[in-house]
Amino acid sequence: MDSYDNSEDVGSNASTEPSIGELIERRLGRRGALRGLFGAGAAAALGHELLGSTALAQETGPSSLTFKEVAHGLDKTHHIPEGYEAQVIIRWGDPVVAGAPAFDPANLTAAAQEKQFGYNCDFIGLHALPVGSTTNDRFLMVVNHEYTDPGLMFAGLGSGRSVNLRASKPQVEVEMAAHGGAVVEIVREGGTWKVVPDSKYARRITGTTPMEVSGPAAGHDKLKTSADPTGAKVLGMLNNCAGGSTPWGTWLTAEENFNGYFGGDAEKMPDAKAYKRYGISKATWYAWAQHIDRFNVEKEPNEPNRFGWIVEIDPYDPSAAPIKRTALGRFKHEGCTYALAKDGRVVFYSGDDERFDYVYKFVTAKPWNRQDRAANKNLLDEGTLYVARFADDGKVEWLPLVHGQGPLTAENGFASQADILIYTRVAADLLKATPMDRPEDVETNPVNGRVYVMLTNNTRRTEQQVNRANPLARNAHGHVIEITPKDGDHASTEGTWSIFIAGGKPGIDAGARYHRATSENGWLSCVDNCAFDSKGRIWIATDGAPTAAGIADGLYGADTAGYGRGLTRCFFQAPTGAEVCGPILTPDDSTVFLSIQHPGEDAGSTFEKPSTRWPDFKDGMPPRPSVIAITKKGGGPIGS
Ligand code: FEO
Ligand code: CA
Ligand code: CA
Ligand code: CA
Repeated sequence: MDSYDNSEDVGSNASTEPSIGELIERRLGRRGALRGLFGAGAAAALGHELLGSTALAQETGPSSLTFKEVAHGLDKTHHIPEGYEAQVIIRWGDPVVAGAPAFDPANLTAAAQEKQFGYNCDFIGLHALPVGSTTNDRFLMVVNHEYTDPGLMFAGLGSGRSVNLRASKPQVEVEMAAHGGAVVEIVREGGTWKVVPDSKYARRITGTTPMEVSGPAAGHDKLKTSADPTGAKVLGMLNNCAGGSTPWGTWLTAEENFNGYFGGDAEKMPDAKAYKRYGISKATWYAWAQHIDRFNVEKEPNEPNRFGWIVEIDPYDPSAAPIKRTALGRFKHEGCTYALAKDGRVVFYSGDDERFDYVYKFVTAKPWNRQDRAANKNLLDEGTLYVARFADDGKVEWLPLVHGQGPLTAENGFASQADILIYTRVAADLLKATPMDRPEDVETNPVNGRVYVMLTNNTRRTEQQVNRANPLARNAHGHVIEITPKDGDHASTEGTWSIFIAGGKPGIDAGARYHRATSENGWLSCVDNCAFDSKGRIWIATDGAPTAAGIADGLYGADTAGYGRGLTRCFFQAPTGAEVCGPILTPDDSTVFLSIQHPGEDAGSTFEKPSTRWPDFKDGMPPRPSVIAITKKGGGPIGS
C-alpha cells in the first residue's frame, strides 16, 4: 500500500543511532563508501559478469531468461511477452464460498462481500492438494486482501486525499468484509486454470473473523479490551500485505499498515509514545473510527495492540480459527517467509515496511516434524526473534530480542518477553538495529541459500543518515540486499551482505546498479515482492514505479548466478494505477501467478470515471483487483 505511505509518512523511528554511513565516510570518504557498495560476496560474480556481458551479449545476451522483454510504458491494460498468455483467475467480487451472490457493483453489501473475493489482493500462496503431494495442477490458493479503495468501490465519494473518510457505516462494513484473505481451490485442466466452485475448502477471512492470539503476549493486559477481557480473542486481521507459508503447509499472512485504521486523539492518551512509534495518530486513513468504536483509541486504547502480527491459518481446515502468533513480534510485517536451519529448526524472515525500520528473523525453538503435521501446530509459539544490524565491513549480525538480555530489561520498560513482542520496534531501537529503506519482502533463494531483502525506497533519508546498506540519500527507487548466512545456516546469528541490484534508470538515477547489459526496458523501480523459480532465478514485483519513475509497475526476472547475474528483464507490465504483488510459480515453473492490486488507483480516478476499467473493460464495471496466471503458449517453464 503506497498511496499513503509514499506521500505522507515520514517514518516513525526517531532513533539517533549513529549511521554506519557516517563512520564509513569518515574513514573512506564518500566516494570510497560508494565504491564499496558491492560487498566481497558479489565481487567474484561481478568478475564473471564483466567477462560474460561482452562475450555473450551480442547474440542471446548473458541472461538465461530468453523471453522477449515487454517495453516500458504505462497504459490502461497489462502487457506480457510474445508467446505467453495471461488469464484472469479471480476478481474482486467473484464468488468464493457457496451461496455467494453475483457481483453487483451498484449494490455492494457486507453480507455479499464476505462470501466474495475481497479487495486489493496481495500475497498468493499455493498449497498442494492433496496435502503434501507434488502436484503442479491442483492447489489451495490463499490470497491476502490488503486494503480498500472506497473512491473506486462506491459511487459518489469522489477522489482526493479525504475520499476514504467519506465512507458511510454500511460502506465501512463492506470495506471490513473486503479485507482479510481468501482460500480458493484451483485446478488446471487442458492448460487452463479454473476456480473450483463450492470447494469444501473455500473460505473468506475478513476484518471481523474471530481469531485467537497465542504465544508469549497472549492474554497480556495491553491486549485486553472491553469486548475481550481475555486479551486472546480478536476480531479480524487488517492490512494483510505479503505473507508466506510453513513447511507443514499453513499460510502465514502479515498485518502491515494496521495503524491507518485507528482514529481518536492518540496524542492525549497514556500510550501516546508507543502509538507514535507505530504511526497511530489522529490522521486516520479511513472512516472506520467514525463508525465503529473499537477503532477509536479514545474508546478502546488497546485495540491497536491486537494488530500488526503474523497470522497463521490452516488452509486445509476451514473450521480452524486463524491464530495471531505473538512470538514473531508486532510491527508492520510485510511478509514472513521461511528457510530451514541445518538442525531442522525453521527460520522466518520478515521486513518492517516503514522508512528507517528494520529486518527481522524468528528461529523456532524446536525442529519441525516431517512425519506428523499436527505436531507442528504450535511450533511458532516458541523461539527467538532477532533484528538485523548491517555492519560497515559487510557483515550482518542478528541481535536477539530476548527479555533480560542487553538493554531489554524492566529498567528500560520491558517487564517481560510479552512487552518486547508488543513493542518490538521500541525494543529493536534499543538494540541499535540498522534503519533500512523500507524493508518489504525478505525471501530465500532455494538454490543458493542466500536471502534477498527488497528495500522499496526512502526519499526521506538525508546525506547524514546514509549507511552502507542504505547508501543513498533520497532513495527513490530502492535496492535489493543479498545476505549469505554464515556456514549456510539460517539459524546463525552471523552472515555477510552485499547489494544485489539498486533501482532507477542506469546513467540517469544516482546509485542505479545492475548488470551492465540490462536493457532500456529491464531497469526497475520500487522493488516490493519477489519469488524464485526452481533454477534459483529471482522474479521481482514492483510497487511505486509510476510515481517514482514514470513507468508501470511490473514483474522482472533475473539470474542470481553466472554471466547473467543481476541482469533484470521486464516480463510483465501492470495496468495504470496498479502495483504487482504476490508473485509465485508452480513447482515446475510452468505458471506464474500475480496479484494485480489497486488498478485505477490514480489521482482523480473515481468509481464513475476510473482511469481504467481493467480487467473487464465494461461500462459501469469498476476496475477490479484480480489474480492472474501467466503461462507460455504450448507450455514449458516461464522465462525460457
Ligand atoms: Fe503493503 Fe509493504 O507493501
Ligand atoms: Ca500492496
Ligand atoms: Ca509496497
Ligand atoms: Ca508489499
